[in-house]
Amino acid sequence: GITRHYKFNIQMAKVTRLCHTKSMVTVNGKFPGPRIVAREGDRLLIEVVNNVPNNISIHWHGIRQLRSGWADGPAYITQCPIQTGQSYVYNFTVVGQRGTLFWHAHISWLRSTVYGPLIILPKKGVPYPFAKPYKEVPIIFGEWYNGDPEAIINQAMQTGGGPNVSDAYTINGLPGPLYNCSSAKDTFKLKVKPGKTYLLRLINAALNEDLFFSIANHSLTVVEADAIYVKPFQSDIVLLTPGQTTNLLLETKSQSPSANFLMAVSPYVTGLATFDNSTAAGILEYEIPSKSHHGNKRLPLFKPTLPAVNDTSFATNFTSKIRSLASPQYPANVPQNVDKHFFFTVGLGTSPCDHQNKSSCQGPNGTRFSASVNNVSFVQPNTALLQAHHSGQSNGVYSPDFPISPLHWFNYTGTPPNNTMVSNGTKVVVLPFNTSVEVIMQDTSILGAESHPLHLHGFNFFVVGQGFGNFDPKQDPKNFNLVDPIERNTVGVPPGGWVAIRFLADNPGVWFMHCHLEIHTSWGLKMAWLVLDGKLPNQKLLPPPKDLPKC
Ligand code: C2O
Repeated sequence: GITRHYKFNIQMAKVTRLCHTKSMVTVNGKFPGPRIVAREGDRLLIEVVNNVPNNISIHWHGIRQLRSGWADGPAYITQCPIQTGQSYVYNFTVVGQRGTLFWHAHISWLRSTVYGPLIILPKKGVPYPFAKPYKEVPIIFGEWYNGDPEAIINQAMQTGGGPNVSDAYTINGLPGPLYNCSSAKDTFKLKVKPGKTYLLRLINAALNEDLFFSIANHSLTVVEADAIYVKPFQSDIVLLTPGQTTNLLLETKSQSPSANFLMAVSPYVTGLATFDNSTAAGILEYEIPSKSHHGNKRLPLFKPTLPAVNDTSFATNFTSKIRSLASPQYPANVPQNVDKHFFFTVGLGTSPCDHQNKSSCQGPNGTRFSASVNNVSFVQPNTALLQAHHSGQSNGVYSPDFPISPLHWFNYTGTPPNNTMVSNGTKVVVLPFNTSVEVIMQDTSILGAESHPLHLHGFNFFVVGQGFGNFDPKQDPKNFNLVDPIERNTVGVPPGGWVAIRFLADNPGVWFMHCHLEIHTSWGLKMAWLVLDGKLPNQKLLPPPKDLPKC
């Protein structure tokens, strides 16, 4: 591979959408931010210079960061934030991965404006396991807030209530024609030629919503998920949780039709949350044949039909179709044996209101919203866990006693117990190098059953099983798929259900795991794995870089 250099200047920029102009945190003044392109095997050196008042850090979502945890990015987990006026060079090599990923800020809610595509092409001369597309198009979904997302989350954390929802969804930063006050500049247009195959690289960078996507009168073929090739299958509609990516093949019609086609994005939401129930749209426009008798007219405009906002059966059906390619060239190395079993409850709960501050009581029944894994709501430390671990100064920063299962059994998907208060702590699971891990993630319906997109840093995992209701440790493992399960970095725990994942802990470092619904992360639905060094020199975490930020 080669070394590729990028420079990210974190700067304020004025951005206008839907008649609202605001000054916001951007990379190089762009929204969405710049596209990073590399090949498998390349080394990336990305210099991030902070020229805004906020602290910043950047995460390369889905990059495994083998032994290079210092470059992973989550603030207070692997690094201290880059402070105003300072800079940090993210230095990592892309090993054994290719596909569509993305990068985003990983501190507070800055990822609402600081994100962009991260495209890893195969090594030179290595083809895709499908016909070569005519063109490749990154399509990144996001959310637009007329206000300042930092102010929104700060207020929600102060009051203990739910945050204001976004004002629009976006496709490549643009909300599209279905919103009030939309101008031509607000719409993403994909110009295509007839009779061609396009590779659409979809990324869900939205803060808080799973999203459906469809293009009117076109059927799509799924070929990759989370940068893993899958057995191709056709689908008119696809679903991505925040943090997931999906590559699609789009075959254009053999002749240029005299119509335009909308591509649309709308939310999939379970649970009790208030949410942005709007639809972003872009336009698929065929090039006008030179001798067209239709002239410039592009009518009618066809619209796709998207599932209902709570269509869990669509979601279940769609996700169950996604299987690893599991070919000799791209094998699915599913751990067949498990060294350590974990059972994690994930869900929302409440914590006591701070009575000193009368406004901090806007959660359910005068409490604050909270979220937890095994009833532990993660408390962000004041220094980075990885630094504390590496320097041997973990005392008072974190404790190694994260529970391997809930302390008390209850009917997780039935009537919740009376006391739903969560406990707080900065706890990690410590794993010896090369431990084979299974985690059952069980949604709890304490504040309503809800889908949680769980994202793991530093690894891909195999989704070996999923189901509704409470996980049955006797029966359910009999149906696990250990042959061709999808391998990914983010999985939706079904509302009122569970998923089972397996991964091999072959990457020393501290690795964050959290719900990629940003509000749930803010409320504490997060934890960390500490994977110890192995014995061999190439099984050890690399030394920290000289310019690693200090807290
Ligand atoms: Cu895309 Cu920890 O996040």
